[in-house]
Amino acid sequence: MHPFTNNLTAWYEQHQRTLPWRGEKNPYKIWISEIILQQTRIEQGWNYYLQFIEHFPDVATLALAEEDEVLKYWQGLGYYGRARHLHEGAKYIYHDCKNIFPDNYEDILKIKGVGTYTAAAIASMAFDLPYAAVDGNGYRVLARVFGVDIPIDSSEGKKYFFALAQQLLDTQQPAIFNQAMMDFGALQCKPQHPNCENCCMADFCLAFAQQTVDQLPVKTKKTPVKNRYLYYLHIDNHSFTYIHKRDSHDIWAGLYEFPLIESPKPLSIEELPAQQEWTTIFRHCQYTITHVGKVIKHQLTHRTIYAQFVKISIRSGEPQFSSSIQKIAGNDLHLFPVSRLMEIGIQS
Ligand code: ADE
Repeated sequence: MHPFTNNLTAWYEQHQRTLPWRGEKNPYKIWISEIILQQTRIEQGWNYYLQFIEHFPDVATLALAEEDEVLKYWQGLGYYGRARHLHEGAKYIYHDCKNIFPDNYEDILKIKGVGTYTAAAIASMAFDLPYAAVDGNGYRVLARVFGVDIPIDSSEGKKYFFALAQQLLDTQQPAIFNQAMMDFGALQCKPQHPNCENCCMADFCLAFAQQTVDQLPVKTKKTPVKNRYLYYLHIDNHSFTYIHKRDSHDIWAGLYEFPLIESPKPLSIEELPAQQEWTTIFRHCQYTITHVGKVIKHQLTHRTIYAQFVKISIRSGEPQFSSSIQKIAGNDLHLFPVSRLMEIGIQS
């Protein structure tokens, strides 16, 4: 066994973090925690996890819930596709697997939204199966200790690091090994300011020896970020307002929002009423613009959103929308799952 493995598990015994899903053996709860943690920091995910499993304590409860209810419990976490996949996955286990959580790697991989990392995490943590689960922390640790400069976000890198982790895996205690790798990356071999002076890997860490710790891991170039300009119409029609559910092919799929005018370039508040969508919506109305919110910059992974919320009070007539728009009491807005941006905009 490479000393990496022993040193890692010994380190973990002393330094492991206390986390709500630690030591958990229930595959359903491990699945939920892993999906939440995919694109969310632990501090942010912690309470979401606790509230989610309190409200949906098992596969059946989640499978039988309405999608809006599931999204409501996800509200604010972002990457809402994760919640929709969880919901679909629960329905699959409930209906197609007779409500029995799959207990082997291949079958776990068939669950919607579960990739090789998550399948390995569930297989190892719930069923003690010998699969290495390498997350971002693991890639960094391996790249440094073994001095590997293959980009971690390339398919070659993924294969390479996965094979390396699989070789190093402590097959007697895969759950411990995998979580040790995560904690070691998060606490010791941190992205910035890793604690190399006092490290159980220092004797054989290649990056430490070659002074390349701050250059590893390597990533391929980032995808360019696109700008989108969104103008939300927060309409007050005698205490009613209008919302629609976003469709499934774009960001925030399944969440609700105000009617929206999107533009490829920034628009001034004077230009907005000249847009064709605007004139269509308000062609039979008398209205007043009562408030123009500040431009809100909202960063998503590959998009920078510039959004502005415009409050419009209807004096007479009815705005005209396509059929997907719902007219609701303004006071009922909080009942609908909305993006973080909408939450901010409603209050602005
Ligand atoms: N990141 C993803 N899964 C995790 C886990 N089980 N423990 C700590 N960090 C994680």
